Amino acid sequence: MTLLDLAGVSFAYASGTKVLHDVNLAVEAGSNLGIVGESGSGKTTLLKLLLGLERASVGSIMFRDARLDAANRSFMRGFRRSVQAVFQDPYSSLDPRQRVFEIIAEPLRSLKIETDIAAAVAQALRDVDLPGDAAGRYPHEFSGGQRQRIAIARAIVAKPDLVIADEVVSALDLTTRTRIIDLLRSLSARMTFIVVSHDIALVALLCERLVVLEKGRIVEQGATRDILARPAHPYTQRLLASTPRMPASA
Ligand SMILES: Nc1ncnc2c1ncn2[C@@H]1O[C@H](COP(=O)(O)OP(=O)(O)OP(=O)(O)O)[C@@H](O)[C@H]1O
Ligand SMILES: [Mg+2]
Repeated sequence: MTLLDLAGVSFAYASGTKVLHDVNLAVEAGSNLGIVGESGSGKTTLLKLLLGLERASVGSIMFRDARLDAANRSFMRGFRRSVQAVFQDPYSSLDPRQRVFEIIAEPLRSLKIETDIAAAVAQALRDVDLPGDAAGRYPHEFSGGQRQRIAIARAIVAKPDLVIADEVVSALDLTTRTRIIDLLRSLSARMTFIVVSHDIALVALLCERLVVLEKGRIVEQGATRDILARPAHPYTQRLLASTPRMPASA
């Protein structure tokens, strides 16, 4: 089943800078998608479009069988229940004044999901391997890796179909990265991921499909295994040669 489908999508910021050019891609349920590209190539911008936070200047973005329409509130409520996001910085993305319980419960409350909130938060904490008593503590009491787990718990608590993650491991040390990659792999039995990452190990271990962005254009896309083994485009070859590899991807 196709979750997201982009056809001929171009995008410019209000300042006039053109950032994406004629992007065509489909995200299938059960097939994780990695997005790689140099800094400034438009990866985060593409995620913003996929999340309905920015609108395509040209082209269409379909979510399931409907056009992604950020202006339609009831559509967006259903969309947010299906699609959640995790962002890079495990320090700034969590409200320091809220206990972990409230942070993780937030999507259930804002989406008005009728469920046993305490049980759902406890389950999300178990899913990300944090102790149950974490719920009563504040974000500053946790390490960077643990905070990233809290952010992931918040993203999965409403049982989304798709989780969109931007550089979720880049601020973490090698051991913690490996643990978070293992966590995402185990969660991917239940949901589909779109990840932006400079970390080829994350992409190689998690993503069946890969998209390579250069200056806002897709220069290569296909099976991750094939692209990593035989990058066809010179840009991909340079990108892979310049990206440090973790032992896990060797
Ligand atoms: N809010 C904005 N207004 C105007 N231009 C922007 C805005 N955000 C990003 N840009 C520009 O869009 C281009 C793509 O930026 P984007 O953040 O999508 O890149 P990226 O691939 O995520 O880079 P990085 O790997 O450094 O995170 C850059 O040239 C950037 O300067
Ligand atoms: Mg970015």
